[in-house]
Amino acid sequence: MSKDYLMNTYARLPVAFERGEGAWLWDQQGNKYLDVVSGLGVTALGHAHPEVTAAISEQAGILMHTANLAHIPWQEKLAEKLCQLAKMDKAFIANSGAEAVETALKIARLTGHNKGIDLPLIAVTSGAFHGRTLATISATDNKKLQRGFEPMVQGFIHLPYGDAAAFKAAVQQNPDICAILLEPIQGETGVVLPPSGYFKQLREICDQHQLLLICDEIQAGLNRTGKWFAHQHEEILPDIITLAKALANGLPVAACLARGDAAAAFKPGNHGSTFGGNPLACRTACTVLEIMQRENIAENARQIGAWLLKGLQQQLGDRAGVVEIRGRGLMLAIELEYSAIAIRDKALTQGLLINVTHEKIIRLLPPLIINQKQAQLLLDTITRLVLGSIID
Ligand SMILES: Cc1ncc(COP(=O)(O)O)c(C=O)c1O
Repeated sequence: MSKDYLMNTYARLPVAFERGEGAWLWDQQGNKYLDVVSGLGVTALGHAHPEVTAAISEQAGILMHTANLAHIPWQEKLAEKLCQLAKMDKAFIANSGAEAVETALKIARLTGHNKGIDLPLIAVTSGAFHGRTLATISATDNKKLQRGFEPMVQGFIHLPYGDAAAFKAAVQQNPDICAILLEPIQGETGVVLPPSGYFKQLREICDQHQLLLICDEIQAGLNRTGKWFAHQHEEILPDIITLAKALANGLPVAACLARGDAAAAFKPGNHGSTFGGNPLACRTACTVLEIMQRENIAENARQIGAWLLKGLQQQLGDRAGVVEIRGRGLMLAIELEYSAIAIRDKALTQGLLINVTHEKIIRLLPPLIINQKQAQLLLDTITRLVLGSIID
């Protein structure tokens, strides 16, 4: 391993994976693991999906990259497909989640300037995670991620997640607010669901004051919660949506979708990306969306997710040390009163790959193609490990 040459950005697990198939991974020693991380919510269709592999291989042999100086038919096709699915008007195709969020922030600021606001403000929420670039850590509510990188990017106003009255009051006091950016379900913070009616109230306030409602669907979107987009559970339509992670099942592709004035904000020269939207990335993303649609991946996420949530709640819900079991679809969390790191490490030795956020929250993000037998294995193993840790 060449880890000595890598910058010190991750505390890595003591394992290197060599290959994967569906919901399974194998390490260099040939040990098999059930993957309940999906590369942080990315490999929704599982590893080495034959159709995705075929699309990548074929396109790599035809044309990978031309830059956005020319028309890119696969990019146009992807934009059309995404806009139709999300009821949006236009798309910008990027390479990572943070870049999609940056795109949304630029659109929001531009829209503010177009309304005559010199220093537009964007409301963001407690517990938010939007990425690791300077603007996105500034929009993120995590002092640890910001420390050492001050000064933060200006132009954000931080408000409590789930509190529509706080947003209303802020808007009334501050005419420079032009948008609110938030996750429909907070992922990195530990799968935090919004209180019911919150998004509807935000939508109303945004409509009244002509503000943009920006949903960061990078983790919760693309069927993870049992619907194409997590905001659909809230029965609202945002003005801007950011997507990444599962969009091309592991190839770095992201998108910022917008409707109405927000969709028309950019003019040539306002924004761009060398790699963004190349034929390889876009054909792969088109293939992923087709498979998700054809195989009704949302239904599997809904059914298996509901079964897992119920099972976890029955087995662990009232146990001492378990704070809460929560989630929607295949975005699930077990919050403990104590550190879950030892459980994560033990799980790895037992062939189960799980992730922990904020030290005490086990986050389960299996691939959306996980089957009943694999879900049973996940439920049995995690129950045994959590119960074992309580007795320990
Ligand atoms: C909601 C949300 N937004 C943005 C990001 C940043 O995405 P990326 O790591 O691809 O830049 C993430 C990543 O976890 C995320 O969960």
